[in-house]
Amino acid sequence: MIERIEQLRTQAEGEISRADSSEALEELRVRHLGRRAELPQMLREVAGLAVKERAAVGQAANAARQALETMIQARVAQLAGEELEASLRADRVDVTLPGAPPQTIGRLHVLTATRRELEDIFLGLGFTVMEGPEVETVHYNFDALNHSPTHPARARTDTFYVEGPPGGSDLVLRTHTSPMQVRAMEAHPPPLYVVIPGRVYRPDSDATHTPQFHQIEGLAVDEDITLADLKGTLLEFARAVFGDERDVRLRPHFFPFTEPSVEVDVSCFHCDGKGFLRDGARCYLCKGEGWLEVLGAGEVDPNVYSHVPTTERNAPGYDPEKIQGFAWGLGVERIAMLKHGIPDLRLYYENDLRFLEQF
Ligand code: PHE
Repeated sequence: MIERIEQLRTQAEGEISRADSSEALEELRVRHLGRRAELPQMLREVAGLAVKERAAVGQAANAARQALETMIQARVAQLAGEELEASLRADRVDVTLPGAPPQTIGRLHVLTATRRELEDIFLGLGFTVMEGPEVETVHYNFDALNHSPTHPARARTDTFYVEGPPGGSDLVLRTHTSPMQVRAMEAHPPPLYVVIPGRVYRPDSDATHTPQFHQIEGLAVDEDITLADLKGTLLEFARAVFGDERDVRLRPHFFPFTEPSVEVDVSCFHCDGKGFLRDGARCYLCKGEGWLEVLGAGEVDPNVYSHVPTTERNAPGYDPEKIQGFAWGLGVERIAMLKHGIPDLRLYYENDLRFLEQF
């Protein structure tokens, strides 16, 4: 019997030392030490042996069992360590790689994106960007811009008036970015090339008017700045926004602070300025006109310069005999509506993600 025990032990030891996984070891443990295995079976039979034999066989079997258990345990620990090592090596992380970008990332509102795009175009043409106050004095919003005392835009139905400190100047929410023309000239001597983006306010509310909207003012003052320079500048702008084939057209208009004043149209990018589409249908975008109205502009009225006091900051100042300039004001909402085919101005301000996510 003892011989058989040793035989079993040697065989099991060989198998255990060759086992190469935790599962294989567990399987060996069951095979050699499990309830139905031969060695434990023999241990159970020891009690029935003759007294002489009992001690020797019992000892040998117990020793064999213990040796195998210890060996399995040691091998399990060793293999677990090796398996852990291997799995760590497999999922190795390179901590010097850049982090994973977030899955959902916000985006710029279409109006912000459009404003920045337009700013970039004018920066490229040599303009600098300025900003100014949204609560403005009547002086800058109307008086200095040559509006007669009875000009209808001053009416309370057309302008939000703001109560200021008692005895102070009359205040409004600026109705356009043009008041910054005078502020910019007060702050800097000519030559001056600036664009002024910002919010403006008017008491209107329907599909094409919201009480608050955005404009970008442009002002260029230098020697001999003519309407041709204005047209060239706006042609560059129109092509950058609506495509290289675009053309611009100036139509006579009136603004109190420009002379002459014009409304500027861009040839329709939907029908290529034809007014009708390939199937003969009338172009819905320009309504068959072939032109889209995009902004108001003109040569700065000399009267405006007379409202710009000469100070240390802007010396030698703005002498209408020596300098000329042009200005324009465009609506950011309108440009983005045309460019993206947005049908209703109010969509910009409703914060509906189904709308916002399209840009
Ligand atoms: N301020 C005018 C408006 O809001 C636009 C404009 C700006 C016209 C500059 C001429 C020159 O309608």
